[in-house]
Formats: sequence, structure tokens, C-alpha cells
Amino acid sequence: MTTISFVSERPTGAHALAFPIASGEDVAAKVPASLQAGAAIFKAAAESARFAGDAGSIVEAHVAEGADVRRVLLVGTGSALDGEKVGGSLAAKLLTSGETKLVIDLGQIASADRATFAVALAEGAALRSWRYDIYRTKLQASQKPTLDDIVLVVGDRLAEAETRWAARKAVVEGIGFTRMLVTEPANILYPESFVERCLSGRELGLEIEVLGLEEMRAAGMGSLLGVAQGSVREPRLLVMRWDGTNGAVARPTAFVGKGVTFDTGGISLKPGPGMGDMKWDMGGAGAVAGAMRALAARKAKAHVVGICGLVENMPDGNAQRPGDVVTSMSGQTIEVLNTDAEGRLVLCDAITWTQQRFKPTTIVDLATLTGAMIISLGHEYGGIFANDDALADALVAAGKGVGEKLWRFPLGEAYDKLINSPIADMQNIGPREAGSITAAQFIQRFVDEGVKWAHLDIAGMVWAAKPSHLWEKGATGYGVRLIDRFVSETLEK
Ligand code: BES
Ligand code: MN
Ligand code: ZN
Repeated sequence: MTTISFVSERPTGAHALAFPIASGEDVAAKVPASLQAGAAIFKAAAESARFAGDAGSIVEAHVAEGADVRRVLLVGTGSALDGEKVGGSLAAKLLTSGETKLVIDLGQIASADRATFAVALAEGAALRSWRYDIYRTKLQASQKPTLDDIVLVVGDRLAEAETRWAARKAVVEGIGFTRMLVTEPANILYPESFVERCLSGRELGLEIEVLGLEEMRAAGMGSLLGVAQGSVREPRLLVMRWDGTNGAVARPTAFVGKGVTFDTGGISLKPGPGMGDMKWDMGGAGAVAGAMRALAARKAKAHVVGICGLVENMPDGNAQRPGDVVTSMSGQTIEVLNTDAEGRLVLCDAITWTQQRFKPTTIVDLATLTGAMIISLGHEYGGIFANDDALADALVAAGKGVGEKLWRFPLGEAYDKLINSPIADMQNIGPREAGSITAAQFIQRFVDEGVKWAHLDIAGMVWAAKPSHLWEKGATGYGVRLIDRFVSETLEK
């Protein structure tokens, strides 16, 4: 883990040094006084690399500073002082470089912008340096992370930067937690072990309650249990509550996550190639768990609950069959025509239970629900469906603010009709067309009158095949920052 700290003045001793350059700025003019001897080298390095100060672009050179020879990085901030990109690029560049300490001198950033920029930079650097190497026993020395310390020099803005970083650090840790859950393979992370990992949230002040098989039977969750019955891993319903309003807000906002710890498709078995991806079919639940930790750790002034419906979808002698009819906790019956459309079967009972238990004003569910969503939006946006325009707008705005973009899809009666069943109240699939929308319509049938609800289909967002400025390829932690921003913008105002 890379440690991040803030100081008011540049430390002495061995370290790499970075300083920011805005778009189009003259490099030589920005070189700190102690490095003036290297000004000509920086100018030449920048020119030969066609460095123009674009956000996150980096030029490096070794130059003398007093008696030391130092690795110095000029990093572009772009025109909008994009701190996250700057921090992410620096971390990516130096993480396994052999360098153990990086000092970033922000003395040249205007004092009024400095704390904001520094904290965004810290967030980007912390997110980009997250790794999960516990199963890699044969990493070469040259592949191992070396960057232990990142030190930001913020001059007179130290107190402000430190205070604001404390809250952001809580969110960064929540994201790391989500990425860990999403990365763990399904032989290690299953409903019971998912819950075990979350229990330490109690130390952050989360109230945690867990429903096992018997409790879920007693509650009548026939839909969720139908999915679970083909697996030797027992299902769980994980319930996390954080009330930062000290009882002033009676009805919470609920976040409900799909937590299918592995999705084989069940008897409607998925094809082999790519099936390993289905270890991250718990990404919605992972985001909810990470976000709840973040909110508790930063003591958000909001009353929120996070509910994770945890099951494994497996085919075996006891698995449910296509054509089975199950009775959900709501009393509505479902004809299960495709056992691979299991996420909605889990979410519907989790949502019913949440409504009965907490009477939430608002429910936001997050789920890796449909492959069709990836066909629609690729890996750029998550899909959002909502029964309330203000809620949809607030979530879209929150996503935009943190770079976790959402694009709204329609709901309507004509789509809803497509999941009517000839034998039960509904069936769990519609026709091939509009597959993400009929999935959302299914969930909507379980949302009580008067409850504001949004459904986030994040199938394309939780796992990245390519690295970005905020992650190595793999788990992204999508959803945590979105929830955090939504809470701070709508519930803490
Ligand atoms: N977990 C999948 C959706 C998914 C697919 C997420 C690929 C991420 C990547 C979901 O349970 C599923 O299998 N959905 C089916 C629904 C269909 C049977 C109506 C799908 O999308 O094919
Ligand atoms: Mn499935
Ligand atoms: Zn699934």
C-alpha cells in the first residue's frame, strides 16, 4: 500500500520529485529555484517528447539538485487542473519503477486551488496504486510495487488538505474494499465468506444484520431461494445500516446490490468461454458494501441502509429448472423460463424485504444484470432506469461529477407487458429485444407505491479489460464514488 501524506514544505533526502505544468506553459519558467541548473535539460526533454502539459502527460529527466541527482517528473495538469488524472498517471508511472518515495511540489499552484487539486491528486494516485497480488507468488522483483510513499507539498494549505483528505481517504478505502470483493475468485468468495469480510464494518460503526437460509425461508423469499438451491453454498442476505442523523431521519435511503458470487447460468448453462467473468457478478453488492463502509468511515450525515442479496447460481440435481414457478416474498408468482436471468430473482426478494423492514423513501439498486446493457453502452456508461425524474437526475449528476457516468433508459407499460406469463403473474425473461429494459420492468413490479426507485445496470462497468488512469485492468470499484456523491449531494444537503 502506498501511503499518502501532506506537508507544508519540501522534505530533504532521497526521493523522486514531480511538479505540475499547465497546458501550454513554458517549462523553463516553472522550474523550481533549486532545480534551475536543470532548466535546459527539462526544456530539451519536454521538446523532444512533444510535452504540451496535457492532463496526466509526463516527461522525466535526471538532474542535479545540490549534491544529489534526482529523478524529476514534469506532469501536465491540462487546462482544468485535473488532479485525479495527474495523480493517477504519476502513480502508474512510478508504482513499479524502483522509486520508493515521490514528492509532488504543488507550490506553484495558486493557493486558492491548491487543496482541491492536492486532494484530487491524492485520490487519483491512491486509486491507481491499488493492487491485489496475494495469489501471485512468483512475481519478479522488477514487477513488484516499490512506491511506498507519496508526499504532497501544499504550503499554507496543509490543514485544509488534510481535513478534506480524511473524507476522501474513507471513500478510497471503500473502493479498495469493493475491488477486493470483486477480484476474489468464487471458490474463496461465496455468500458466507462475503458476509464475513464485511463484518469488520462494525468497527466503523455499521450496524450489521445477516439473514441465513432459515430466516429467508421464514420470510418467504421463494424467488431468491430458487436461485440458491442448486448450490452447496448457502445464500445470505447482508444488511448494513448507517444512521448519521441520530434518528432525525426516520426513513432511510436504501441501496440494494445483486450479489451473485458466481453465475454459471444454472440449468440454462452459460457457454464456457468467458464464464470465469461471472465471478464478478456480485459487483452490485460489492459496490453497496464498499459504499456503506465509506459512508460510515467518513461519518456521513445521512440515514442509509445497504442490502446485499448473496447467492451462487449453480446447476445440480437440486437446481431449479426452466419452467419452474416460484412464489416471491411479495406473494407474486414467477415462471422461471431461463435460470440465467437470476439477478432479478434475487433482487426482487431483497427489495421486498428492504421495504418491509425499513420503509425506505428511496431505493437504488445496483446490479450486473444484463449482457444486453454491455451491447447498448459498452464500458462507458452504466444504464439507469427510474420511476422518478428527480432521483434519476440526481444520480446522473452524481455519476457525472465523479466520472462514473450513467445513461437513462425508458420504462413503460408496453415493455412491462412483455414479461406477462401464461401460467404465473410474470415470467423472468421477455423476448430478445430490449433485454435490459424488460429486466428493469421485472424489478419495478416489486417496488411499492410511493417509493422512489432507480435501477443501475452496471454490467459493463465493474470489470475493465484495459487499464485507465484510475485502475490497473480488473476490478474498477464502479458505484462507490457514485453512491458517495449522491449521498453527499442529496441527503447531506
Ligand atoms: N450476470 C448476467 C449478466 C452479465 C452478462 C453481466 C455478461 C456481465 C457480463 C445475468 O445474470 C445474465 O445472465 N443475464 C442474461 C439474461 C437473459 C437470460 C435474459 C443475459 O444477459 O444474457
Ligand atoms: Mn445470469
Ligand atoms: Zn447474473
